[in-house]
Amino acid sequence: MIDPQTVQQILDAADIVDVVSDFVSLKRRGANWIGLCPFHNDRNPSFYVSRAKGICKCFSCGEGGSAVNFIMKHEQLSYPEALRWLARKYHIDIAERELTDEERQAKSEREAMLMLNEWACQYFIKQLKDTQQGREVGLTYFNERGFNQTSLDKFRLGYSNSQFDAFYRAATLKGFNRDLLFSTGLCVDDGHGGGKDRFRGRVMFPIINLADKVIGFGGRTLSHDKQVAKYVNSPESIIYNKSNELYGLYQARRDITRQDKCFIVEGYADVISMHQAGFTNVIAASGTALTEGQIHAIRRFTNNVTEMFDGDAAGIHAALRGVDMLLTEGFNIKVLRLPPEDDPDSFARSHNATEIQQFIDENETDFIRFKANILLSDAQNDPIKRTEAITDVVKSIACIPSSILRSVYAKECSAIFGIGEDVLLREINKFVRYNRQKRQQDRDREKAAQQRAAQSQGATPSAEAGAPTAADAPTLDTTSATPASSARVEKAKSKSSDIQIQERAVIRLIIKYGYCLLPATPEHDTTTVTQHIANELELDDMSFSHPVYKQIFDLARQVLPTFEQDFQQFSAEVQTKKQQYITSQMQQDGDVNFEDMDSAALIHALERKQKAVEAQATARERKQIKEYRSNYLEKLLCSHIDDAVRNLACEMAAEPYQLSKIHTQFATIVDEIDRLPQLVDEMIYNWKNALVEELIRQVKEQIGNASSEQQIVLMQQLQEYYELRRQLATLIGDRVVTP
Ligand code: CTP
Ligand code: MN
Repeated sequence: MIDPQTVQQILDAADIVDVVSDFVSLKRRGANWIGLCPFHNDRNPSFYVSRAKGICKCFSCGEGGSAVNFIMKHEQLSYPEALRWLARKYHIDIAERELTDEERQAKSEREAMLMLNEWACQYFIKQLKDTQQGREVGLTYFNERGFNQTSLDKFRLGYSNSQFDAFYRAATLKGFNRDLLFSTGLCVDDGHGGGKDRFRGRVMFPIINLADKVIGFGGRTLSHDKQVAKYVNSPESIIYNKSNELYGLYQARRDITRQDKCFIVEGYADVISMHQAGFTNVIAASGTALTEGQIHAIRRFTNNVTEMFDGDAAGIHAALRGVDMLLTEGFNIKVLRLPPEDDPDSFARSHNATEIQQFIDENETDFIRFKANILLSDAQNDPIKRTEAITDVVKSIACIPSSILRSVYAKECSAIFGIGEDVLLREINKFVRYNRQKRQQDRDREKAAQQRAAQSQGATPSAEAGAPTAADAPTLDTTSATPASSARVEKAKSKSSDIQIQERAVIRLIIKYGYCLLPATPEHDTTTVTQHIANELELDDMSFSHPVYKQIFDLARQVLPTFEQDFQQFSAEVQTKKQQYITSQMQQDGDVNFEDMDSAALIHALERKQKAVEAQATARERKQIKEYRSNYLEKLLCSHIDDAVRNLACEMAAEPYQLSKIHTQFATIVDEIDRLPQLVDEMIYNWKNALVEELIRQVKEQIGNASSEQQIVLMQQLQEYYELRRQLATLIGDRVVTP
């Protein structure tokens, strides 16, 4: 439904670092960027992003791929949906035609629910702005609370009409079907074949996920009636998993990264008021203790969390809840206790930014210290309560992964409690051991459960999807035609899988270096890797047996002319820039002081400078051209619409030592690209060799079963193959340089 040009435009615009940064906080590491992997529970950054290659990859769990792959995986979208997502991000217009009924049906339920929620969000905003009730009731309420227009826009606040089915009727009229209205929870069945609205006469807070999608709503009542629930929330659904969401994270994420810190508050109003006051790294867990899923969401952006809570007793109590989990995950936690009469919302509204900042600076306290002091003062002189308090604090300290930090706290708490440091440490270590055992047990149990599940499905752990392995190597016809002993079949399989391995090595070269140049040799002119391989294969009438490899090879050849055109244009641009660079460098005086020179010396100095600048510019030009050649096809394949092509390309593009040079700081690895000519010939040779070996094996097998007449013919054939093998060996003999 999206035309190829637009697709290309989207793929060109999608900068992988930019795309991943929407979800993960990245740090520069050499030529790459690294961060915590969003696809597994990552403690140390193992997620690499290469801007030049346009791909990302987790070296721990293996997830990754191009920008499209990343969005598909992260947002659970199909390929075209992911393209749309990227198009929206980069403001690229896609001419969408109206969907037919069938297409509407076919759209994934998820997508449909998100579409409805988005429409509902806009509907509620319109209600707030453009209806009398919305303005008189909703807008007045927001104004009284001090929310300005910027905040209303930023958090997309709205209003739901008090009529019992106003939304239901509007949405039905718009063509949204009943099932969808119920599955999103926006409406509920009225029991008479119709529906009524979940949210009525409430101000609406949409819950927006990291992908800027409305996944649910919270609606606050404006009635003071104690019988009426203060908040009504969307139910859990396939798009809304409450325990993974944090209110405000979408709006706060960039600032959390920038400041490497976030504040956690309780409710919607707290978040909005803090943002409005200029504190834009504030999020809320929405009235519950933090869950593991929420903690993982935060950890992608920062390790530093400050809990901000109401100064009253209930607030303190809430602040102590659920923090052990944060400690376990290695967070640095602080608490900020507000004055007793305040919650973050009222505090932010009654103070200006400077005052708030000053209050933070003066009152932010380390969590463990805070907990120890609070519990101790609660216990007063009751020895049993004191013991309980100490145990409670000890448990928290035991959650901290760093042993150094644990002993620092042991020291500090020994002073607070007046207990020997060594006694505390002993107690702490007891819990550390206990926690460790418990984790191990959990892991074992999980593993056992997984194994049971796998067995009950009758499935063996399967190889990575899309990555052809030796296991799915096609067997040659001859081997399957002649029933052979199982030992023989095994051997045959391993032989033909050897061919597959060689094919794989060759297709890998195509993917990574297909449009790089091979220098001229006595046998051929300067040519691309793809063309060279094509020639070689044609020479011996060979082709890829694996369908995906074949597809990729065909693509590489088809796109070659387009590449050549693009390359012409690119190198022309590079030329122009090079000349501009040289000119601008020559115009700058730099470190040569021309004024004191006589003209001969001046000319000499200028000539020297010119040479140096030109050499520098040429080096840059070479590098850019090399990169362009090596990245063009790889990028194209890594974003290809075909799953198998894309996955294979991404997998090969993301090989660890290619992506990351940090592992090789001390060892000099010659870049593959610098020894391409040998490499290409070597791989083709290996492949041909594997084929000949296979042919020899087959003929030998046939000889065993053949009549004596046939045997003579077969023997001749065998001799031919031997000769072929010998020729191959000498041909390649002095060219192959094994690493
Ligand atoms: N909450 C909820 N359902 C409730 C009560 C509370 O989901 N019945 C969640 C909301 O996310 C709310 C947060 O818990 O924002 C904190 O609750 P509370 O302090 O009562 O709400 P505030 O947002 O502070 O409301 P207000 O200041 O408008 O009274
Ligand atoms: Mn409040």
